[in-house]
Formats: sequence, C-alpha cells, structure tokens
Amino acid sequence: MIQIREATKEDIPFITALFRDTIQNVNSKDYSEKQIEVWASGANDIEKWEERIESLYFIVAEQDDTITGFAYLKNGNYLDGLFVHKDYQRQGIASKLLRVMESYAIGEGFEEMRSDVSKTALPFFENHYFDVIKKQKKPFKGIVFQNYLVSKAL
Ligand SMILES: CC(C)(COP(=O)(O)OP(=O)(O)OC[C@H]1O[C@@H](n2cnc3c(N)ncnc32)[C@H](O)[C@@H]1OP(=O)(O)O)[C@@H](O)C(=O)NCCC(=O)NCCS
Repeated sequence: MIQIREATKEDIPFITALFRDTIQNVNSKDYSEKQIEVWASGANDIEKWEERIESLYFIVAEQDDTITGFAYLKNGNYLDGLFVHKDYQRQGIASKLLRVMESYAIGEGFEEMRSDVSKTALPFFENHYFDVIKKQKKPFKGIVFQNYLVSKAL
C-alpha cells in the first residue's frame, strides 16, 4: 500500500540517500561516470533540500515506513524532481506521485504541467502523455547534461 504525504525536514536523510542511490544505480545507465558523480553530489547540499521542503509542494511515497519515492513542484506546475527508490522501480510509485502533482496543479488553476526530464525518465513521461518540446543540453556544476523539456495539458 503506497501512502503519499507531504515531506518534512526529518525525511531529509532518507530523501537524500534515495536521490544518491537512484542516480548511481538507475540513471547510471544513461549518463557518464563524471555526470553521475556531479549529479549525485547534489544529495550533500542539505540546506537546499531544507529550502525545497519549506518552500515547494514536496511529497513522499511511503510503504511500510520506507520512503520509496518523492517529487516536488515549483511555481505550482513545474515538476522539478521525481525520484523512485532503486529497489522499487516499475511498481507504479512515480505514476502515483505524478497523479497527486497533477491534481494539485489543477487545483491551483493551471492548465499545463512542465518538466525538464532525464534520458532515463523520458519513457515514463511519454507513457504519461507528456510531449517533448525540446531536447537540450543543460550545464550543472560545470558539466553538461542532456535532458528534455516536456509538457502536458492538464
Ligand atoms: C522515471 C522514474 C521516476 C519512474 O518511476 P517508476 O515508479 O518506476 O515508474 P512507474 O512504475 O510508475 O511507471 C509507469 C509506466 O511508465 C513507463 N516506464 C517507467 N519507467 C520506464 C523505463 N525505464 N522504460 C520504459 N518505460 C518506463 C512504463 O510504461 C511503466 O509501466 P509498466 O511498468 O507497467 O510498463 C524512475 O525510473 C526513476 O526514479 N528514475 C531515475 C530518476 C530520474 O531520472 N528522475 C527524473 C528526474 S529528471
């Protein structure tokens, strides 16, 4: 049974561990070793995670007291992060998180949802009726990452 609730600061150690492990074990098939190292190092910026939890709509999926996924929404309709635990992939967790985010955005009066998504996540978003607006190269900490700007009408 997947429970969805809003994140609290107490969740940060679990959220950051999940973020690092998923990048190192799941995204690693699509990005270079250096890219993975730089991306995963984002787990160490605790202040940034605190700020996200405080200021964004940030939710976690929980099963048997384990955080198995999380997502956060910026400006009411921009999905800024969506990660599922490496041992819980393809069990419908991201689909459930996305449904909650879409309901929230609709409730806020938005008619579109946008995100910048990884190569790894693109099949998931296409499966959920997002269209690719553009393929792009985004710099992060001096390293360039290929990702996709995607959009969906709500
Ligand atoms: C992308 C991600 C969030 C999907 O999470 P998930 O919980 O495994 O997704 P779901 O189980 O809800 O997937 C639903 C459907 O989407 C599609 N899908 C999901 N992952 C897919 C993949 N890797 N390849 C092809 N289709 C995929 C499938 O149709 C799937 O249904 P199915 O399993 O019945 O075939 C997860 O793989 C992840 O954490 N990836 C790494 C982090 C990441 O890149 N996040 C995006 C940041 S930009």
